[in-house]
Amino acid sequence: MAYDISRRFLLAGATGLGVAGATACASGASAIAETTEAAFPPEKVAVENPYLLGPPEGVALLSRNENPYGPAPSALKMIEYAASKGAFYASQDAVLLLKTMIAEKNGVAPEQVALTTGSGEALSAIAMIYGPNGPIVAPRLFWDTTALYAANLGMATIDRVPLKADMTTDLEGIEAKVTTETGLVQLCNPNNPTGLVADAATLKAAVKRMASKTMVLVDEAYMELADDPEGNTCIGLIKDHPNVIVSRTFSKIYGMAGIRMGYTISSPEVAQKIQATAMSWSPCTSYAAAIGSYNDEAFLAYSKAKVKEAREMITATLDTLGLEYLPSQTNFVFFKSGKAANDVQKAFAEQKISVRGQYMDYVDWTRVSTGKIEDVERFCKALPAIVGA
Ligand SMILES: Cc1ncc(COP(=O)(O)O)c(C=O)c1O
Repeated sequence: MAYDISRRFLLAGATGLGVAGATACASGASAIAETTEAAFPPEKVAVENPYLLGPPEGVALLSRNENPYGPAPSALKMIEYAASKGAFYASQDAVLLLKTMIAEKNGVAPEQVALTTGSGEALSAIAMIYGPNGPIVAPRLFWDTTALYAANLGMATIDRVPLKADMTTDLEGIEAKVTTETGLVQLCNPNNPTGLVADAATLKAAVKRMASKTMVLVDEAYMELADDPEGNTCIGLIKDHPNVIVSRTFSKIYGMAGIRMGYTISSPEVAQKIQATAMSWSPCTSYAAAIGSYNDEAFLAYSKAKVKEAREMITATLDTLGLEYLPSQTNFVFFKSGKAANDVQKAFAEQKISVRGQYMDYVDWTRVSTGKIEDVERFCKALPAIVGA
């Protein structure tokens, strides 16, 4: 397996550390140098296990909605600096600086921002805070990992509302279920795995009405990739509707899925609850990378252009094959292959191309992420034979 670390590699590392440890008692500086040498320097990883992190050898990783063009050079520079300060917990100055940057960009106060180790941590916290108050009402198909996390702990139940015939979120259906006994409404915009953006005016009106009865969470993990993020975001509603929470992440357009930083914007009271319920302290490298690249407009524009280019390659191929797909505004496309999704996944895997398997009872729908252009090219070349076109 490509991820296997060879026994030789492990033994070499372990023995070396032992020797260096003993030497360390004898002489300080040279011992540190030896420890460094015996450890896992990047050059060694590159030679002996170049795929320790990132996609395995030759694999086109198109299943996880990452941005392979990240992290931005502006983030990498800051990670290098942060790594040298890795002995220390992230400082309150770094926390405040990132909160302030996010607040300034979004026209809110820093106290309205909660920072977590990826947005998933905030979303899990939210499910655990509000799940015990009543059902989490959500579309049938959405990114449900964190609602399920609370459900698996016995802290929430999920009340799923079927999608409309065009696979958009049924906001009317969701609203019809919402009462003051509802624990949380959870929406995902753009939605995952459909990639669809809700009609802005309809969504905002529904969110306002529902927020007069209960908490409403809008997961905007992919919003920066949408055609008109400013017009579609629900962040502007928070000022007059303190029950609204919006989550965002550095994992998608910022290309930092492995670095881990996410945030929510809400009322200060809710932000405090989320921050207090989050279970970890984010690494200093995460803060540094986020601070370094948050306002890197050139990198964001570059990433968005690459996503669009790849998405258009995918949809052009689907058009040629006459396959149905949803008009995505994200870095993934949900399409109807007409074949069992798990078989499609296996057939791609045989060619070292990774796509998602079946969602619920959407038997013949496949989700493919955009990725490096050359990887998307491989997907487009392989698709006709796999779907038998
Ligand atoms: C819609 C949505 N929200 C949130 C997340 C969580 O991402 P992260 O914890 O990396 O911020 C994901 C991950 O794929 C997602 O698709």
